[in-house]
Amino acid sequence: MSESETPRAKVPTGVSGLDEMLGGGFPAGHVVLVSGLPGTGKTCLGLQFLLTGAAKGEKGVFLSLEEDVPQLLETARQFRWPVDAAVKAGTLKVIRLDPKETRQSLHRIQGELGKELAAMGANRIVVDSVSLLNMLSDDEQSRRATLFALAGACRESGATSLLTAEADPQHPEVTRDGLSEYVSDGVVLLGYRTGSDGHRVGLSLRVLKMRRTPHVRTVQPYAITANGIVVDSKAVDLGGS
Ligand SMILES: Nc1ncnc2c1ncn2[C@@H]1O[C@H](COP(=O)(O)OP(=O)(O)OP(=O)(O)O)[C@@H](O)[C@H]1O
Ligand SMILES: [Mg+2]
Repeated sequence: MSESETPRAKVPTGVSGLDEMLGGGFPAGHVVLVSGLPGTGKTCLGLQFLLTGAAKGEKGVFLSLEEDVPQLLETARQFRWPVDAAVKAGTLKVIRLDPKETRQSLHRIQGELGKELAAMGANRIVVDSVSLLNMLSDDEQSRRATLFALAGACRESGATSLLTAEADPQHPEVTRDGLSEYVSDGVVLLGYRTGSDGHRVGLSLRVLKMRRTPHVRTVQPYAITANGIVVDSKAVDLGGS
């Protein structure tokens, strides 16, 4: 960072422990990737991020490619978050990008999405998930173009964004597409911890990268509780999970 560059303000994720690891939250305006295997809590983290903003009157937009709107709201209600009140107050908007309407969805992402999001006054954006988005394109070049367009739209809107991606089951430290980490300013990796017998014994989180800010790099345990994700940032480093 040059001397004249002022550090970016932090946007709290609302996930206790993670915010401490990041010195307050995601740097404002960043596009952060949350990558993990199924069931590690990516959708939960995305909702928690938006509802944390909504509680302060910020506007959040959830672009859902996986779950439809009623399903997603039901997921949020399970965590006892005031999701219906947020929708009513206009601090949470859920937009379904239906993978069945491929052409239309891609056209929207590569066209006016950034302006649409800015016009909505979005402070926080979640895209769940870019893995499904990637499946809409049939070749590498088009996947790359779509991902760049999406990250560009998020940045153009001025909001702070969280993209979720499925980790590669063979190599869970990287995403299935191997591309999303390159368009993102930060990467948070969610994973399963395995015991000596190879069984899953818990969950662990690591901040792999976060441009323009110092952050903790150790592997910390976390739990998905009835009130959302809680990271134990004080636990001893679990090491290469
Ligand atoms: N109310 C709850 N209390 C405790 N844990 C819960 C609750 N609801 C969900 N979970 C846990 O969270 C997991 C799912 O989290 P989430 O849907 O956010 O994962 P995901 O990473 O988005 O998964 P996928 O890749 O399948 O979309 C469940 O498998 C369950 O273990
Ligand atoms: Mg999910």
